[in-house]
Amino acid sequence: MADSVLDYVGKMRESDKGDMLSFCVDEAKHYRVAAEAAEKISLSYVNPENVIVAGMGGSAIGGELLKDWARGKAQVPIEVSRAYSLPAYANEKSLVLVVSYSGETEETLSTFLDAVKKGCMVFCISSGGSLLKFAEKLSVPFLRVPSGFAPRAALPYLFVPLLVVLAKLGGVSGVSAELSEAIAVVERIAGECAPEKPVKKNMAKSLAVGVNGAVPVVYGFGVFRGVAQRFKTQFNENSKVPSKWEYFSELNHNEVVGWERAGKLAGCFSAVFIRDGAEPDEIRSRIEITKGLMPSGTKLFEVWSQGKSDLARMLSAVCIGDFTSVYLALLRGVNPTPVETISLLKAKVKQNGTKMRIVGELERLAASR
Ligand code: F6R
Repeated sequence: MADSVLDYVGKMRESDKGDMLSFCVDEAKHYRVAAEAAEKISLSYVNPENVIVAGMGGSAIGGELLKDWARGKAQVPIEVSRAYSLPAYANEKSLVLVVSYSGETEETLSTFLDAVKKGCMVFCISSGGSLLKFAEKLSVPFLRVPSGFAPRAALPYLFVPLLVVLAKLGGVSGVSAELSEAIAVVERIAGECAPEKPVKKNMAKSLAVGVNGAVPVVYGFGVFRGVAQRFKTQFNENSKVPSKWEYFSELNHNEVVGWERAGKLAGCFSAVFIRDGAEPDEIRSRIEITKGLMPSGTKLFEVWSQGKSDLARMLSAVCIGDFTSVYLALLRGVNPTPVETISLLKAKVKQNGTKMRIVGELERLAASR
C-alpha cells in the first residue's frame, strides 16, 4: 500500500505534488543560482573576531551548517543565535549575519536592532519585509534573495551567501570548489530520489516507508550535526510528525540510556543514523556499538552521504532528508508545504505587541540617523 502510494507520486501532475517536492527535484539548480548571486556580494568589513548568524527556524539552519562546515577550517568562532538579542560579547568586531527569509520574524528583527545599536558589522540576507526596509534605511548592506519559497526551501539562497561571506571575510578557502562538487552530487541524488523512481530503487522513498508510523530520531556527528537537525525540522514541517535529533559522541553520554528500559516505547521510534564513508574510526566504532545496544526490534536505518568534500557530503545527506520528509508527508496524506501552526502561532504572538515595539524602535533609530 505504502509502496503504491509513493510509486503513484511519479505519475502525479506537477500541480498536485506540492512546492516542497518541486524544490527537492530542483535543489541542485537552486544551489547553482544561489552561488552565482552570492559571488557578487562585496563587503567593506575587515577581520571580524567572531561571526554570529542570527535567525530562526528555516533561516537559522544554514548557520548550523556553516558552523559545522567551518569548525575545522575557520580561525574565528561561529555562533548561531536564535534569540531576541545577541550574546553579550558581540561588539564592533563581530560580524553579524542576520537571516530572515520573510524579513518579518520578530526575534530576528530584534537581534538586527541589537546588532545595529552595538555597532557590529551587520549583513542581512532576506527576500524583503521589514528587515530589508530597515537595512536600506540604516545603510546596512544586504542580499535580497528570490521570494516565493517556504523559508526551509530557500536553504540554498540562505546558506550559500553565508559560506561566501565567510570565505571573503573569515579566511576560509575552497568554498567554490566544494560548492561545485556539492551541486553535482546533489543533482545526482535528486535523480536517484526522483518522484518517478519506484520505492525499491529510491532510497528516500524507502526510508520514508521505513520510518512511517514511528517518531524519527536522527543521529548525526561532526559535519553532520546540523544535517541531523535539518532532517528533524524537515520531518516536523514537511511530514508533520514529531521528530528529534542528537549527535555523536554526546549522545553516548545521555541519550543512549533512554533506550535502556524503553520497553514498548522503543517501538514508537525509528532511529536514522547519518553515515559517511570518511567517518573517523572512533565515531564508526561508537555508531556500531550504539546500534548494538539499542533494544532488539528497534527500527534502525542508515543514510550514507555521497561526495568527497565536506560540503558535498553534508548537502548530499540534506538532499536525501529533504526528499524523505516530502515522501513521508505524501505517504501520510498531508501537504508538505504549508505550516499552518507556525502561521497561526505568529499571528497570535503578534497580538502581544512585541513586534510593533521592535519595529517602532527601528523607525526611531532610522529617523535619528
Ligand atoms: C521554515 C519555516 C520556519 C521559518 C521561521 C522563521 O519553512 O517556515 O521555520 O523559517 O519561522 O521565519 P523566517 O525564515 O521568515 O525568518
